[in-house]
Amino acid sequence: MADQLIQVDHDFWNIRGSFRIGGVVDIGTQASLIRLQSGRFILLDSYGLKGKVREAVMALTDQGRAVEAILNLHPFHTVHCEQMHRDFPGAALYGSDRHVKLFPNLPWRDLRVDDPELHAQFEGELEFSIPRGVDFISDNDAIHFSSVMAYHVPSLALHVDDTLMVMNMPAPLKLVGIPYRLSFHPTLAQALEKRAGATEDFDLWATDIATRWGSAAHICAAHTGAKLNLSEGEAGEAIRYALKRTRPTLAKHKRKYG
Ligand SMILES: [Fe+2]
Repeated sequence: MADQLIQVDHDFWNIRGSFRIGGVVDIGTQASLIRLQSGRFILLDSYGLKGKVREAVMALTDQGRAVEAILNLHPFHTVHCEQMHRDFPGAALYGSDRHVKLFPNLPWRDLRVDDPELHAQFEGELEFSIPRGVDFISDNDAIHFSSVMAYHVPSLALHVDDTLMVMNMPAPLKLVGIPYRLSFHPTLAQALEKRAGATEDFDLWATDIATRWGSAAHICAAHTGAKLNLSEGEAGEAIRYALKRTRPTLAKHKRKYG
């Protein structure tokens, strides 16, 4: 898969890159570049930029000098963090506790990427949300459900890693008017907190983002792809339908933990 820089909106670019599981199957990965109202930039997530995409990002950002921060939003997306810092050494570096633990020698800022105090710094331009009722950093390395989701208000663009996936549908479904489907990550069952009330918390959170970000025009999801130019209300409907399909999982969890 060749790297791509997609201009999603005037001030929002989605970088589509390659990520191979076990070095073989390329499931892709993403990062996003956002121009703030100040004219400075931030990067959501890390990617090892190369070739034409790297040249384009450097040209947009005054050779990287205009990038003020890198926000690593997914605790288990870590392979490109070191290179991103090398490429943008002047940018304030933010990550989760897991990023800091894995790369103790990088100059991480004190605030973690899941801290509301950090999110407040971008108030009016970016909104953030972290799923409730699930572990943010699972003890099990294979559970990648949770992440910090980011919504760029001026672009109506949602950047989400793993938590929500955009699945492109096979040709027969496209023909009957179902070109894609939005789904919660399949590890939800293992990610739910083993306590009473976890499923209600998750349900309320998902319902809330479907309302808050229901008018999103673009959803950029890691691995599976980006879905651009959605119609008004389509995102909200897609999130609610994705939630509906988790009901059996939520019900099973509730029977066990309450
Ligand atoms: Fe992932």
